[in-house]
Amino acid sequence: MKVLVVGSGGREHALVWGLSRDSEVELVVAAPGNPGIAALRPAYDGQTVACRAVDVADHDAVVALARELEVDLVVVGPEAPLVAGLADPLREAGIAVFGPSREAAQIEGSKAFAKDVMATASVPTGRAYVCTTADEAAEAIDAFGPPYVVKDDGLAAGKGVVVTADREEALQHAAQCEQVLIEEFLDGPEVSLFAITDGTTVLPMQPAQDFKRLADNDEGPNTGGMGAYTPLPWAPDDLVAEITEKVLQPTVDELRHRGTPFVGLLYAGLALTSRGVRVIEFNCRFGDPETQALLPMLKTPLGGLLYAAATGKLADHGELSWRNGSAVTVVVAAKKYPASPRKGDVIAGLDQAENDHVRVFHAGTALENDELVTAGGRVLAVSAVGKDLAEARQRAYAAVSQIRIKGSQHRTDIALKAERGEITV
Ligand code: AMP
Ligand code: GLY
Repeated sequence: MKVLVVGSGGREHALVWGLSRDSEVELVVAAPGNPGIAALRPAYDGQTVACRAVDVADHDAVVALARELEVDLVVVGPEAPLVAGLADPLREAGIAVFGPSREAAQIEGSKAFAKDVMATASVPTGRAYVCTTADEAAEAIDAFGPPYVVKDDGLAAGKGVVVTADREEALQHAAQCEQVLIEEFLDGPEVSLFAITDGTTVLPMQPAQDFKRLADNDEGPNTGGMGAYTPLPWAPDDLVAEITEKVLQPTVDELRHRGTPFVGLLYAGLALTSRGVRVIEFNCRFGDPETQALLPMLKTPLGGLLYAAATGKLADHGELSWRNGSAVTVVVAAKKYPASPRKGDVIAGLDQAENDHVRVFHAGTALENDELVTAGGRVLAVSAVGKDLAEARQRAYAAVSQIRIKGSQHRTDIALKAERGEITV
């Protein structure tokens, strides 16, 4: 099988790595990819792993590349090209695509659309008002009371949400957005559950948890995600079955009934509140950095799985199978991330960081005069596997301590509460 992966971050690096572990995959090309993907060695004789420069916003260029490479499957990684509709011209060209159409990607592209789908499908989520003026927003903010949850309606790379007890800050964030959702505050531990779907059949992955705030103890601003771990030792046994039944399957069914089937990865971000499971948000693609923790644990060959989803054959595919043990991913971010990440800082120590249990996925890196340097906010995702969370954590942080980037930032408490058994539902 020949596969083209679109995108250039840590999630795409993990996807390309995962695909390369599938003995049925003879070619995997990332467009545009990144220096980490370019340095990936094939896992099998006769396999090729490569990067090709392409402007992802130029849909004709991506279609032309897929044709030139004669790929069997295109996997679109990030939300921006999906929401912009990249999957549509690829499908029109007769190419199998893992990734939703422009219309189905609205489940992530518009929070108001997602709320509408959930209301119709009776999927449990927080109550919310969609507001377009400052007066409406102020009224909704006061109706709920603190803590206030204010969300930009559109795509914002994980940074469009403000959760605050400060009414002024809530009003200010609302004023900066064209259309805004004011939402009920949801307490309880958060879970990310990903489902592979062909538009009808839903195959849930194992649950993961990510860490959205920049600093330890969930302090500091929201980010794209500072770390993740999987599975969740504290989760109730029937959690995946319950979320599949109450959230994932009804959402996939509703999108199909609307004539816009969702093919790809449906990401449910959930809060396990005292009143039950509630959806915080949907994303229309693999989560970052949960994917970097999940894929090293997945035993099911990735190419065959994504191809089955892209071609409507998921009903014939068995359940997913997973390695025993745990995975922990720690993100290393650039100085001044998320406000104004510094670019061009030299990255050293990666050779010492990687071993049989640890993989470093490149997210925001570039080569400058043959030197690896920072080129984005989240620079690296360091993933380790171990027999349990304690061992995976220890290995991940030992690797992080080998990596040297001036002014870099990382959290020191990824998966710590779970390891200590301090999370309760
Ligand atoms: P989102 O971009 O919707 O995933 O929101 C980012 C983060 O903000 C979430 O992971 C939560 O930690 C927090 N958040 C979003 N909505 C709510 C809510 N209704 N109640 C509490 N926290 C929320
Ligand atoms: N892990 C959060 C996201 O992918 O949006």
